[in-house]
Amino acid sequence: MLQKPRGTRDFLPEEMEQRREIEMRMRRVATLFGYHEIMTPTFENQELYTIKSGEGIIGEMYTFEDKGGRKLALRPEGTAAVLRMYVNEAKVLPKPIRWCYLLDCYRYERPQKGRYRQFWQFGAELIGADTAAADAEIILLADGLLRAAGVNFSLQVGHLAPMKHILSSLEEDDKKRAMALLDKRNFEDLEEYLNNTGNSELYDTLVGLTECRSIDDAKRVCGDFPGMERMEEMLGILDSQELDYSLNLGIVRGLDYYTGMVFEGFAENLGAENQIIGGGSYRLAHLFGGEDTPSCGFGIGFDRVMVSAGSVETKRAPLVAILYTQEGQKRAFEVASILRNEGVLTEVNLLERGIGAQMKHAAKTAQYAVVIGKKEVESGMITLKNLATGDQKECVPGDLPDEVK
Ligand code: HAM
Repeated sequence: MLQKPRGTRDFLPEEMEQRREIEMRMRRVATLFGYHEIMTPTFENQELYTIKSGEGIIGEMYTFEDKGGRKLALRPEGTAAVLRMYVNEAKVLPKPIRWCYLLDCYRYERPQKGRYRQFWQFGAELIGADTAAADAEIILLADGLLRAAGVNFSLQVGHLAPMKHILSSLEEDDKKRAMALLDKRNFEDLEEYLNNTGNSELYDTLVGLTECRSIDDAKRVCGDFPGMERMEEMLGILDSQELDYSLNLGIVRGLDYYTGMVFEGFAENLGAENQIIGGGSYRLAHLFGGEDTPSCGFGIGFDRVMVSAGSVETKRAPLVAILYTQEGQKRAFEVASILRNEGVLTEVNLLERGIGAQMKHAAKTAQYAVVIGKKEVESGMITLKNLATGDQKECVPGDLPDEVK
């Protein structure tokens, strides 16, 4: 038996129904915030991802050469492509631009529970607003989406400004390395790295920063820092909306395009892979040939949302099964058409079997059965049976949609 590729999943109809229901709830919230849905190609030029992250990222992506020798990659995330699309198609749109998306992404990772090689992200990007209000809106939208999806989660909001201030004397490479170790809370290696590079005095300040729970704590740890007022204003907006979050100034984020506000969310009922959202403010447009454009956004791990939210109630419209004997076959297709034109879900028997066997099958899949036999063809009437109650009545096909609705 052939198997699906490692790290991918099949979705049966019941699961798809659940996914579509949650998608719809999330789309509704995004729409209420003024975000419009977009779509980008599944594959992009590799350069789109290496231009910022370097060739190292190729190891983590699905990359291939097409028949024309072009180096391509399946998208590992949405942001880079969305910003490329903005530069290609939408530079002249009035700012800020509010876009959202639900995209399948591909990462060459070791699959485990909650971590797949093909997964979906529900994301949003707010392009062209460099304000505390924009940062706050993105976090509030993320919170609204996760709530609407029915996830129990906690949000951690941070900002790179104080960390960058503490590390301002370091070379760019040293800064990156120190931030990566801090992000992983790998204090041992951080201490060793700072010692080896002659920056041991920064260690206590950095550890202190990860323990800050308020902006006042941050000021105590690293004094006034550039961007402090902006950060204070953003937190003020979040507090005024009574958003439930904790401040975490040790967040760096794995992707290396973030410039200021950063945030992450964790679902309460997932295992090790419990990060359900990540986002922040960044600048990418200038790398893709556009003007330097401030942006912010996030990606929600949609598959993790589905596990965390559990089963949701979905409304299924009643289904009518049309059963017939050979002489009623054409009439059966006609009646199905009448019902479908009125928006009634209808399936027609396709197998050569008697009315008894057809009825048995219908009892498993449908709520109503319509029987068209010799008698019905001759009389022009049809028999409608409610499969839950067993009630049966005769009517003309034109009355069927109302009877069922
Ligand atoms: P990210 O943190 O790499 O950010 O991914 C966002 C979310 O996608 C994660 O928090 C996680 O829930 C989910 N995720 C990531 N990898 C996997 C996987 N292998 N299987 C299942 N779920 C996964 C980004 O991708 C940024 N583009 C977010 C962003 C948008 N920042 C600004 N705008």
